[in-house]
Amino acid sequence: METKLRPYLVSLAALTLCTLSLFGQRQRPRQYDYPATLDTEGKHVNAHGGSIFRHGDQWLWYGEARPERGFTSVGVALYTAPATADMSQPQTVAWQNRGLVMSVVDEAGSPIERGCIIERPKVLWNESDKQFVMLFHLELKGRGYDAAMTGFATSKTAEGPFVLHHAQRPNAGKWPTDFTEADIAHAKTLKINDFKEWWTAPWRKAIAEGLFLWRDFEAGQMSRDMTVFTDDDGTAWHIFSSEDNLTIHAAELTSDYLGYTGRYYRIAPGGQNEAPTIVKHNGTYWLLCSGCTGWDPNEARLFSSKSIAGPWTQHPSPCQGRGAKRTYGAQGTWMLNYGNGILFMADVWNPRSLANSRHLWLPLTFDTVGNPIVTGPNQ
Ligand code: DGJ
Repeated sequence: METKLRPYLVSLAALTLCTLSLFGQRQRPRQYDYPATLDTEGKHVNAHGGSIFRHGDQWLWYGEARPERGFTSVGVALYTAPATADMSQPQTVAWQNRGLVMSVVDEAGSPIERGCIIERPKVLWNESDKQFVMLFHLELKGRGYDAAMTGFATSKTAEGPFVLHHAQRPNAGKWPTDFTEADIAHAKTLKINDFKEWWTAPWRKAIAEGLFLWRDFEAGQMSRDMTVFTDDDGTAWHIFSSEDNLTIHAAELTSDYLGYTGRYYRIAPGGQNEAPTIVKHNGTYWLLCSGCTGWDPNEARLFSSKSIAGPWTQHPSPCQGRGAKRTYGAQGTWMLNYGNGILFMADVWNPRSLANSRHLWLPLTFDTVGNPIVTGPNQ
């Protein structure tokens, strides 16, 4: 009996070891493949899900300040570099840590009470009000990712402190701008209880037709992963994962950037896209997103349109080379157009230590027919 069982037990042990090692590999944070991005003090830049833009004589890099352990937030950090820095070689730029420009607070009941989650902060300079406006994905203390709100904060100086203006869900009581009267009338007939099972064909159809739009109509639309974009005419847009991460919304901001005009469009309804990043090139808007797999990387998704209002066309991922199928282990956060080129900025998340998530910045160029290409890091 014992002899008969031995080969079986040996194979079982081998299989277990193999599975464990595969699992271990999957779990091993990919950021170890990439070097840290060191600031002027030799410390890894703790500014994730962020954005970089030039203001005056500086490059401003705002991002999530994350703790060494755990998933809640510390606040938003700023790193700066002189405007003369060579952004085509971002790893060589000497980033100076300017500290937290917005911190979580200890005041009970504040939307940014310690224990909240602040993700993907993006900052805009508002020329008429002469102030910086920060938008960020906000999740309230103790509620996981349920609140799905947008926080707005302002500061007269780049270095802050940014003061929370308010937090909200976008576009309460508003239908997408391109919804017709018939679309609206139909969406109003959709009932959550009729679609309890997700991912079925009728459920997918109902999602595209506005099942979740209608569910969230009064409270406002969910807003999670996000970016901002200022168009050539000065109109600013907030682009975010909505409808339980199923559909991207592009919502026009008011001229002070502190609210919504009510004009908004849906992109790829039901497509399950997050981590939106956007760049405009030769009159075409290119939107590069990820799929939804938590902190794990997945294949990037590319969309283009001649107008924010759509229609949007999906294209194959622009990522090329080794690791392209999983966006080289990263997830986008920003498109930095630095004048002489464009960088696709991405985070290589390390959920075991979010503060140590790596930064991967890759050149985005255009091929001879004008389609974007992201060149891999040759890891
Ligand atoms: C993926 C998002 O892109 C991140 O910003 C973060 O929200 C994680 N999901 C949380 O799982």
